[in-house]
Amino acid sequence: MSKMRNKAIEILKANWRDGYTVPSKNLYPYQWKWDSGFIAIGLAHFDQKMAEREVETLLNAQWINGFIPHIVFHKVSDTYFPGPNFHRADLHPLANKEYPSTGMTQPPVLGFTLERMHEIAKDKKESLQFIKNNIDRVYKNHQYFYNNRDPKDEGLVYIYHNWESGTDNSPLWDPIFETIDAPVYNFERRDTSIIDPSERPTKREYDYYLHIIDIAKEHNYNDAKIAEFSPFLVQDPLFNSMLIKSNSALISLYKMIGGNEDKIEQLEQWQEKSITSFNRKLYDKDLGAYIHYDLRNDKPIRMVSSSSFSPLYAGIPNKDQAEALVRTMMDKFGGEDMYLCASFDPSTDKFNPKKYWRGPVWINLNWMLYHGLLDYGFNDLAQRVKSDSIEILEKVGFYEYFDPRKSIYKGDVKGYGGSDFSWSAALFLDLTE
Ligand code: DGY
Repeated sequence: MSKMRNKAIEILKANWRDGYTVPSKNLYPYQWKWDSGFIAIGLAHFDQKMAEREVETLLNAQWINGFIPHIVFHKVSDTYFPGPNFHRADLHPLANKEYPSTGMTQPPVLGFTLERMHEIAKDKKESLQFIKNNIDRVYKNHQYFYNNRDPKDEGLVYIYHNWESGTDNSPLWDPIFETIDAPVYNFERRDTSIIDPSERPTKREYDYYLHIIDIAKEHNYNDAKIAEFSPFLVQDPLFNSMLIKSNSALISLYKMIGGNEDKIEQLEQWQEKSITSFNRKLYDKDLGAYIHYDLRNDKPIRMVSSSSFSPLYAGIPNKDQAEALVRTMMDKFGGEDMYLCASFDPSTDKFNPKKYWRGPVWINLNWMLYHGLLDYGFNDLAQRVKSDSIEILEKVGFYEYFDPRKSIYKGDVKGYGGSDFSWSAALFLDLTE
């Protein structure tokens, strides 16, 4: 174990740039929002200052309206497409002029990241000071979401691009793409010259991804216009669970700091509304799972993915719902021949065990499920998620994603996607502390 921990630390040090960590050397050469949060949790285990700088650098890229972008393009790189010249986030009048970025966001990880970093910190006094200096910027990010991403005032925020979900090419989005008339773009992919194309999204899928960005650009990334015109508009249980978990973390941290009653009160109001709507709108009793809601076409997306179980991490389900989730997880994902937790329902024909978010296991989802299951007292299943994660990493190393089928782990088998992947290393450190 200590050899693996040393290797994880070595990877994080090698992926460290000046003030932030790249997810994987050539494949992802910038700073990604949700990666950064998980990475900071890993960094905190061996260098509190590095962890704090990671978070601070991301917060420095925040826009005037509180928005935090999904990618911050710190340095020019020709190994990634689409770069800043395609995204043109600077079209938004409130964009951060100093940090070129995308004009879309990613799940709100920073609240629970700060809380976990503080638990890990050796120097609690210093850590509390760091939180005091930065927490208002995270609060402002939540305020941005509730004020700009919730047009029906439901307490459930929308994402307007599949890249905002983090689960980029999940089969969840297929029916939405079928409603979109995207042109065929002429561009040069960089990812598929680094990674086997069978493990990455297709060219046609990239056409949709670029087209949705082009529509947002036509409206200068104005949120109200995006809510009106984006062909992709979804309430995502994973994204909203992470927002709700981060709300709780901010409430605890503000209480620890003292004062800030107005912010605590506002967070509690958001929390109540969000959790009520979440259970009303995103829980599907027949499936025994949380689902996504297609706000553009006004219909539920009745498919089960690892995101369906993520509300456990945010304390959203009641006891009966939590039990139903566990049954669904065991029935569909938990066979003896499978590692938990596949990213998409293995009992369907959309499941692909090799292709990015269409089936493989991801360590960040497993980390959330582990904590959620523990919180609800499902200790055996929590331990299985944890030991499955560790076993896979020990077998193949710190890849980006992994085949859930146990039968293939014989002989010379590899993980998929980027190698020396930062959050796999970071969350291994946290799971095995
Ligand atoms: C990619 O390029 O695949 C990234 O996941 C986008 O965020």
